[in-house]
Amino acid sequence: MSNLHVVDHPLIEHKLTLMRKKDASTASFRRLLREISMLLAYEVLRDLPMEIVDIETPVSPMKAKKIQGKKVCFVSVLRAGDGLLQGLLDLVPVARVGHLGMYRDHKTLEPVWYYNKLPDKMGERVTVVVDPMLATGGSAAAAVTEVQKSGAKDVRFLALVSAPEGYQRFAEEHPDVPVYTAALDEKLNEKGYIVPGLGDAGDRLFGTK
Ligand code: PRP
Ligand code: URA
Repeated sequence: MSNLHVVDHPLIEHKLTLMRKKDASTASFRRLLREISMLLAYEVLRDLPMEIVDIETPVSPMKAKKIQGKKVCFVSVLRAGDGLLQGLLDLVPVARVGHLGMYRDHKTLEPVWYYNKLPDKMGERVTVVVDPMLATGGSAAAAVTEVQKSGAKDVRFLALVSAPEGYQRFAEEHPDVPVYTAALDEKLNEKGYIVPGLGDAGDRLFGTK
């Protein structure tokens, strides 16, 4: 699992524990996901392209480093990806944003597409595809294939909770794409849910059933 990065900071683990609890409210689930996404961003964006700009401090002029923000693209896998997106945009507000709409068919567990809107010039951007759950890996693999088809070359995938089976499948289809996750859980159950996981991320984020 050489391309898997489990970001195990105490703040992330603590907040994830609160999110996993079945009686966490929609409001706190949403707030915690936004907070964790900022902490995960620290690792997934560690090698962002920088530029040198001329500034003046109160003491002297200097050449200082600045993120090339417009070169960054976050791609949210609907619906639940939007919960991670907010925290990332708090940190990189000028990033471009793409949306990929898909849901898992309950019987086949394969993704069903319904929407695709990506920014232009994907080949020039650092692209972070975000979805809280990497379960069978079908949605993550399909999302990354789609952004690559649009020209993206530097692609990373960010998940909150991952299953070993899902990462395995993802890595077979996209061996060169790094995956950042807060937790690698035990397994999938017979319905394709991550165990122990946190349930249906989209439903918990938006208060649907
Ligand atoms: C969830 C989740 C992922 C997918 C993961 O979305 O947000 O997109 O399942 O499962 P997989 O790894 O087995 O593909 P869901 O399909 O429930 O759609 P939703 O976000 O619209 O609720
Ligand atoms: N999708 C979710 O939202 N949760 C899971 O455990 C698996 C897929």
